[in-house]
Amino acid sequence: MARNIYGLDLGSYEIKVYDKKKDEIWKEKNVIAIANKKEIFAVGDDAYEMYEKAPDNIEVIFPMQEGVISHFNNMQFLLQNLLKKERQFARGSEYVIAVPTDVTEVEKKAFFDLVIHSTAKAREVNIVERSIADAVGLNLDVKNTKGLFIANFGGETTELSVLAGGGMVLNRLVKVGGVTFDHSVANLVRHSHDFLIGRLTAEMLRKKFGVFTEDTSSTLRVAGRDMIMGVPIQKDISISLVRAALKEPLQECIRAVYSLLDRTPPEVRRAIYKNGIFLTGGIANTPGLEDYIEKAVGIPVRTAVEPDICAVTGLKKIIMSKDLRKLAYSMLDENYRWMR
Ligand SMILES: Nc1ncnc2c1ncn2[C@@H]1O[C@H](COP(=O)(O)OP(=O)(O)OP(=O)(O)O)[C@@H](O)[C@H]1O
Ligand SMILES: [Mg+2]
Repeated sequence: MARNIYGLDLGSYEIKVYDKKKDEIWKEKNVIAIANKKEIFAVGDDAYEMYEKAPDNIEVIFPMQEGVISHFNNMQFLLQNLLKKERQFARGSEYVIAVPTDVTEVEKKAFFDLVIHSTAKAREVNIVERSIADAVGLNLDVKNTKGLFIANFGGETTELSVLAGGGMVLNRLVKVGGVTFDHSVANLVRHSHDFLIGRLTAEMLRKKFGVFTEDTSSTLRVAGRDMIMGVPIQKDISISLVRAALKEPLQECIRAVYSLLDRTPPEVRRAIYKNGIFLTGGIANTPGLEDYIEKAVGIPVRTAVEPDICAVTGLKKIIMSKDLRKLAYSMLDENYRWMR
């Protein structure tokens, strides 16, 4: 089969893939279910379905944590299986991978090794800083801008970046994301109602209620376990309780935005005040997030059209355009030679 080119944005929650031959973007949960400690039971969305429901002999693993690969072999196996699952897959293909910036070189190289040292027998692997891919996905002129602020709100991380003149000025990977919000919601529900809910229920409450809307009186009935009686029951959870739980982790993100802006050189900061802050990542779908940040920081905020696939859309454009291709680089280049 003829070679293909893939764009990969590997997230702690979801893997996003651009397949050049099919000209198609798809995504699947970054989850693998392993039975009896060795057999692969399910991968991707199918494995996620089993989360919090699987019997004891099946372990449901998220191979990436806080934006980096934490279980290398599981991640490699999962990726290969997803690329092959119900899809034509070509060995010897080329890969362009979006990577976080504020991680160690060893963590960054793991993304590269994942593909280059796999049975996929990659012909070429290039990487792109994720915020650059996001900016391209947002249709921003990365090379000629005097200042851009991109905030990628993901499943386990919030990546904040300041870009100018085609390069990265400042970058910080904050370890706050969807999972942090969901734990916070589940904890507050437990403390205030003696009621245990799972992470998926907390996620559902967060998605439904959002962070900043006029609504203050809605409630939602959810299933969980009464901690005193020890039995499964249903309870009404109020929007105000969920909002209260989201406040602290959101404040942490806002503080990080402030601190990055503080360290930004004045001329770049002036451009950012004019251009605004751009939101990407799945959490950017949260109702009211744009307004919340705009009010908290005092700069205009805009959200990408499909924020969760913004970076992979950027990879698609980088793959398609000769000019943009220069934004991708190989880890085998001069600067990285010592690591080979
Ligand atoms: N419509 C929605 N409303 C609110 N939140 C959403 C929505 N859709 C997805 N999310 C949340 O977005 C998060 C996943 O975002 P994303 O796919 O950008 O993360 P990721 O790239 O896998 O993680 P990371 O970048 O932190 O490694 C999840 O926490 C999910 O609950
Ligand atoms: Mg991400």
